[in-house]
Amino acid sequence: MKTTKIALIGTGLVGSSYAFAVLNQGLANELVLIDINKEKTIGDAMDLNHGIPFSSPMHIYAGDYSDCKDADLIVITAGANQKPGETRLDLVHKNAKIFKSIISEILKSGFDGLFLVATNPVDILSFLTIKYSAFPSYRVIGSGTVLDTARLRYLLGDVYKVNSQNVHAYIIGEHGDTELPVWSHAYIGTRPISDYVKAGAGPTQDELDRIFTNVRDAAYHIINSKGATYYGIAMGLARITRAILRNENSVLTVSTLLRGEYGLNDICLGVPAIVNRSGIREVIELNLGEQELQKLRYSAEILTQQLNTVL
Ligand code: LAC
Repeated sequence: MKTTKIALIGTGLVGSSYAFAVLNQGLANELVLIDINKEKTIGDAMDLNHGIPFSSPMHIYAGDYSDCKDADLIVITAGANQKPGETRLDLVHKNAKIFKSIISEILKSGFDGLFLVATNPVDILSFLTIKYSAFPSYRVIGSGTVLDTARLRYLLGDVYKVNSQNVHAYIIGEHGDTELPVWSHAYIGTRPISDYVKAGAGPTQDELDRIFTNVRDAAYHIINSKGATYYGIAMGLARITRAILRNENSVLTVSTLLRGEYGLNDICLGVPAIVNRSGIREVIELNLGEQELQKLRYSAEILTQQLNTVL
């Protein structure tokens, strides 16, 4: 049976939390940890290996870029992260430089699998990974608004008293300040949220808008409280990893290159897409309301402006 191998670039708080999630969920047979802090990868590998008896057999080890050659999936979490008061877009120049060197080292290994990008600003770094690797765009996936969508579903599940896995609602656009909720396609189970609002059952539209604001600004609040976010994004990365390695054909709001969808081209941002072993199978184009489409196009415009500063 084909074994599955993940190479993780960056074992900081996000990377090591992701590695822990991969071990706990038994998502791969092999996991190689790569970081500029080699000593940390050695320690992380030892620490994770001691958990294997509580999970399922895995081969976890500290390695280097040459170990990327036969990986099915490379997950990149390396780079600077937001400090209190910083936006994700503020990281673009620093992390674009880091990515240029990471991708070049990976290509030297002969890697020909899939990329999963988490480093922020994730939409821009997903685009740059496509550019620097020259891989077909469907083989480069960004974590996009998968976490934002989960945050929205969690808060809606809480207010409607429903399992968040039965809340069908999406955040699309930039993983950042210009993201937007798609209320026109938001359901509690099979009932549109708009029906609940019209019937005066549950939150008003203003309260729903406040819930969205909490989703959009969640990272700032968490960073102010504990200095960084890592568990939520690690779980989101594990969810995307599962969709890829188990060939699930799952719909996730990952960051992907748009080629005409929503009238947008040459930019990566979070939209519902079908994810499987080959990467992005297809983008599912939602029939957005006029206002929603305008907000998505604005998000794309802001990202394009930032992207142009590093191209
Ligand atoms: C957050 C980081 C991953 O939203 O951007 O928590």
